Amino acid sequence: MGATVNVNGRVFDQEHAVISVFDHGFLYGEGVYETLRTYNGQPFLFDRHMRRLRASAGMVALDVPIGDAKIDARFRETMRAAGLGESTGREAYIRILVTRGIGELTYDLAACPNPSIVVIVKSNVEPSREAFERGVKVALVPIVRNHPDTVNPRIKSNNLLNNALAMQEAFKRGAYEGVMRNYKGQLAECTQSNLFIVKNGVAMTPPLDAGLLPGITREFLFEVGADVGITVRDAELHDDDLLGADEAFLTSTTREAVPIVQVDDRTIGSGSPGPVTRAILDGYRRRAQELTRAVARQT
Ligand code: PDD
Repeated sequence: MGATVNVNGRVFDQEHAVISVFDHGFLYGEGVYETLRTYNGQPFLFDRHMRRLRASAGMVALDVPIGDAKIDARFRETMRAAGLGESTGREAYIRILVTRGIGELTYDLAACPNPSIVVIVKSNVEPSREAFERGVKVALVPIVRNHPDTVNPRIKSNNLLNNALAMQEAFKRGAYEGVMRNYKGQLAECTQSNLFIVKNGVAMTPPLDAGLLPGITREFLFEVGADVGITVRDAELHDDDLLGADEAFLTSTTREAVPIVQVDDRTIGSGSPGPVTRAILDGYRRRAQELTRAVARQT
């Protein structure tokens, strides 16, 4: 794997990066995270990721005790130690985790005065060329996306057991991703990405109130759609909308927009990635390059 890890401000190689078993992130899954990647060596959409990190933390009464500038400095220091990012020409995967911190075996917030902040950096691995060119199969899994009154799906929480179980079911079926419904039976999102379908040239994704993570790629695609002349909007979606779609794709920071061509044993659209998905992916990559090149010139 070859990761480089910043634990509370100190950089370690992966063998030496450790955290106490009394950290409530380990004991109770109390923590939040963000996954970013670089283009042109620059963490992409950094400000939006920091906003979501603080929003997630706020929803679990967790304080992120350092500012964005300091987080950015930790990213860069860890990338430098890893030989990635900035002028190296090698793109980085960056995961930041903020947990409740170390404390007694109690749920009392007062037990953990100091949150732990971990930054994991490794070489960015993109989905295979085959995934983009031929599309992937997903599985519609029976595990339901968290009810908003449990651990709200809006929180990008380290407590990922539900998603892990859903993805393990998808793996069992030989699928690239698992699609989850919400407790009302509507489509919500995938285990690690958001879901889009395309019908009559319009790209649609379930609304936030269907109970899902407000994906940053998802949100960015509304802007990309405007750039490339494709309507992108949210809409309540059901199984039949997916199965009867002209095209479908999934989105995330690490996957950009990967075409879906099969749902379990049903073929979607023509069975090949479609033109709307392609235009959106190309538009996304173009914008990512433009925005990060502008930052790279300033640094
Ligand atoms: N996953 N939905 C879920 C449940 C996710 O875990 C993710 C991201 C997304 C897409 O969000 P974004 O576009 O902001 O990456 C949607 C990241 C990549 C991860 O778990 O590492």
